[in-house]
This record gives sequence, structure tokens and C-alpha cells, in this order.
Amino acid sequence: MKKIFFPFLILVLIGLHSCAQKQSGSLKQAYAPYFKIGTALNASHIEEGDYDGVLLVRKHFNAITPENVMKWELIHPSPTQYNFALPDAFVKFGQRDSMFMVGHTLVWHSQLPQWVQSITDPVQLEQVMKEHIFQVMGRYKGKIHAWDVVNEALNEDGSMRESVFYKVLGPNYIAKAFTYAHQADPNCKLYYNDYNMVVPAKRQGAIRIIKELQAQGIPIHGVGMQGHWNLNWPSLQDIEQAITDFAALGITVMVTELDITVLPNPWDLVGADVNQQFQNSEKMNPYPNFLPDSVDIQLAKRYEDIFKIFIKHHTVIDRVSFWGVHDGVSWLNDWPIHGRTNYPLLFNRNYKPKRAFKTVMAVAKLQETK
Ligand code: XIL
Repeated sequence: MKKIFFPFLILVLIGLHSCAQKQSGSLKQAYAPYFKIGTALNASHIEEGDYDGVLLVRKHFNAITPENVMKWELIHPSPTQYNFALPDAFVKFGQRDSMFMVGHTLVWHSQLPQWVQSITDPVQLEQVMKEHIFQVMGRYKGKIHAWDVVNEALNEDGSMRESVFYKVLGPNYIAKAFTYAHQADPNCKLYYNDYNMVVPAKRQGAIRIIKELQAQGIPIHGVGMQGHWNLNWPSLQDIEQAITDFAALGITVMVTELDITVLPNPWDLVGADVNQQFQNSEKMNPYPNFLPDSVDIQLAKRYEDIFKIFIKHHTVIDRVSFWGVHDGVSWLNDWPIHGRTNYPLLFNRNYKPKRAFKTVMAVAKLQETK
């Protein structure tokens, strides 16, 4: 009796498991009529160490961005050293399922090694920037489909950030970076990427950059709005306005780094001393063990509202990428305060879909029936 029962039980369990998998649906399939659904891969996904994370990526996402391994300090840490092992593995990972691959990022003031930051001679810096772009983009020519060529070149008021590139090469460094990128791989899509693009003053700065490139005939194909947002900010109107303003420039719009923090940010606490708030861990890390239902529901509603806007504008949106695969690997567990427990994505720490996953899926289905 027992001998028959156990194999039977196992078959039933396998059946139930695959049924549950099917029922939860796939993000990339649900959104296939509208735009690509992307995520950011860390080293443990690329090396396929995080097995369950990799399963999620392959099931739900058709676009990938490397979270860190192609940043200058990692891929080109000293003048003559390039680390291509993990970037190569990233490309292989994407090729297996014909995923859309975005390189991130070529010219950025952060995660930039000291040897570049200390260059003061314009001729030398331009040569270094050019060589970096040619080496990195050139290696993945025809394989990586798009690059964030310049990342975060703006201050909040729309003026140019005083990065080493700006200080040494002048405002024209952006035109130079895009020109070299186009030369390195003429078929690659080239993007400008930044955060807080929903803020009108900053957005005006981005629009100025894009128009200047267009006026000079330098290719720029798209703009990435990093979606590092929270439960109340930005307003849906501001998100919508940003999408339509950028689309009016005739380039594709992308939401490139979507995550919605559910934790307080130090700068939200009006009138408080920021440093003291950093020390108040209970206040700043309110859900160390689990996400209360009430907040989970709020997050699901927020994602639902935001995706309704994305679908409304799907003809100009090429891709929506989350910044991370599941809550456990989100950078928001360590930024802007180290060691917190955040819940900003669609999958929880146990790799299971959250309420927000269900609302996001429902938005796509609702659209289908319209
Ligand atoms: C973050 C990564 O997620 C972290 O692992 C790393 O420590 C810092 O950078 N804007 C960007 C991304 O363009 O590259 C940043 O990624 C998040 C903000």
C-alpha cells in the first residue's frame, strides 16, 4: 500500500506545484503586447548561484541590465586592466533566452575609479573616455542591444552636475560620449539615464541635453527614467507628464530602475536632524521581520496605479525594468541607510509573488479585455 501511495503523492505534489506556477502567470508574457519587462542582475544571478532567483528571471523578464558588473570601477579598475569575466557571463545569460540586454553604464561620476577621477588634462581624459567606450562597447558589439551611455549628468535644478567629465571636458562631454558610443557600435541603441526626471526642473535639463544632441545630429534613441520612487511620491500626474514630455522629443521612453521603497527616508522627516534620524533604527527600520498587510496592500495599489499609466502610454514606452529581482537583493536594504529590511519589488524574500505582482498582472489582463 505504502509503496504505491508515496510515488502517487509525489506526482500529485509535482502536479500541484506546476499548476501553481502556471496560475501565477508570467510578467513578460502578460506585458508582451505593451513593452519589455526588465530586471537588474547581480553577480549571483549572472553566475547562476542564486538558483531560485535565476528561475524568476527566466520566467518573468525579457530584458536584463547588470546591476554593477559593467560599471567603470569594476570593469576597468586600473588603466590597463579590464575585468570581462562577469560581463561576458552576463551576455551569455541573456543570449540563452534571447533577452534584450542593456549595458549600464559608460560615463557616470559614481562607481568611477580614483585613477579616472584624478585626471585633470582634457586631452588625456577624452582619450581615456574614448578608449573605455571603445573597449567595453566594442567587446559586446552586436550582442548588447542598448547602452546607458551617460548616467546622472544633472543636478536637481537641471544644471549640469560638476563631475570630473564636466569639469575637465566641459558640457560638450555628453556629445563626445554619444559620438564615440555610436562609432563603437553603430547599431546599438543609445540612452541618457537619470533619476528624479519627474521633477520639472530636472526634466528640463534632460530635455535640453537631448535637444542639443539632436540639433547636432548625434544619435540618441531613448531616455531612461530611473524609477526610485516611494508610496506617495511622485504623483501619478508627474509621472504621466514626464512620459509625454520625453515622448514629444521623438525618442523612446523607459522606466529603467523601478523600485518603490516602503521605508522612511531621512530627508522626508521635515524639521528633524538627519543624523539623529539615521541612528533611530526602530523608526527608520519599522518592518525588520515582515511587511504588515496594510503596507503590502498600499504597495500593491501603488504599483497598480503606476502600471495603469505605463499601459496608457505603452506606444511610447519601450521597457519597464525593475532594479533587482526580489526584495532580498534590493539595493534599498542598504541605501540610504545600511542594514534595513525593505520590500520594494514584486517578489518577496522567499521568491514568491507579492500582492503587487498580482495587481500588476491584473492591470495587463484588464487592458486585454477592454
Ligand atoms: C546601485 C546598485 O544597485 C548597488 O548595488 C550599488 O552599490 C550602487 O549602485 N542609480 C543607478 C544604479 O544608475 O547604477 C544604482 O545602482 C542605483 C542608482
